[in-house]
Amino acid sequence: MPEEMRAACAEAGKVRLLLVDDDRNLLESLRRLFKDDFEVFTAESGQEALGVMATCGPFTVIVSDLKMPGMDGIELLSRVSRASPDTVRVLLTGHADMQAAIDAANLGYVYRFLTKPCPPEVLRLSVEEARRHAELLRDQRELFALKRCKVLLEGIVRGFSTLVEARDVYLAGHQQRVTALALAMGREMGLTDAEKETLRIAGLLHDIGKVYVPADFLNRPGILRAEELSVIQMHPEVGYDILKHLDQNWPVAVIIRQHHERMDGSGYPQGLQGRFIAQGARILAVADVVDAMCSHRPYRPSLGISAALAEIEKNRGRLYDEAAADACLKLFREKGYSLGDGSAEL
Ligand SMILES: [Fe+2]
Repeated sequence: MPEEMRAACAEAGKVRLLLVDDDRNLLESLRRLFKDDFEVFTAESGQEALGVMATCGPFTVIVSDLKMPGMDGIELLSRVSRASPDTVRVLLTGHADMQAAIDAANLGYVYRFLTKPCPPEVLRLSVEEARRHAELLRDQRELFALKRCKVLLEGIVRGFSTLVEARDVYLAGHQQRVTALALAMGREMGLTDAEKETLRIAGLLHDIGKVYVPADFLNRPGILRAEELSVIQMHPEVGYDILKHLDQNWPVAVIIRQHHERMDGSGYPQGLQGRFIAQGARILAVADVVDAMCSHRPYRPSLGISAALAEIEKNRGRLYDEAAADACLKLFREKGYSLGDGSAEL
């Protein structure tokens, strides 16, 4: 539809209602009944109604007479149900046509049928209920779409997480364990559900930038050369580049970029200090160090949980966020937390 025609059809903020009846006088009285609360369109036949829908649709509610020359109301509403299934359909019928109206309702063409003569207050109430029904359908559809997006996002996150770990034999399960520990710490620290969900996604993807690092660097035993180490240390920035186009208000990419920063500014890639580091990154940093020290590496065996906790305790406040360090120490020393594979908590 041309833009100027659509603009002519639009009446800001009002729900669109299409009234169809071959009785011109009745149609005019219906139009007056609804004109203050709805953006009302009228048609005097089924064929004209389809034309109005094509030109000025979609409509939230359509109210149609049953008996009309040419296309009757049931034929019209059955077509509308196929062409515009979200339009809620109301049929006006005489007593003699009751069975036809019931059949139309049973076939799903009609949300409600009303018998003529219909008192204005009954008609108003029915159209209002049809409008609410339309809103409910819209909300359900949006909820369904949101759930599908969430499932899709989860699949993508898990897929990328698996992808990066598949390239690094020493990284297997690392992101899941780090995420599980970070979430447990987040709970201790009183993070909101939204903050924990951000932390969960960031944790599962925090080393995604290692896709840029040659697999040989990641898996080769022995100490890395300085230039190899500098390539590996690019992974937070690369991870940020991969994910920075996510929602600007959703700091997953920023947390990933900062997960190797340290409170005293000695970390990388930006050398940020203290509160300039996102809280999620400060939590992930502690969880990352604990899991890394407890894991075998190409150049050393696991150092064990005692050494990892001693490192966190020793550098609490200097390298690691105090609240995050306290939460981590409390989990292991007072609440019996163990690293496990992390999958049960996610
Ligand atoms: Fe990392």
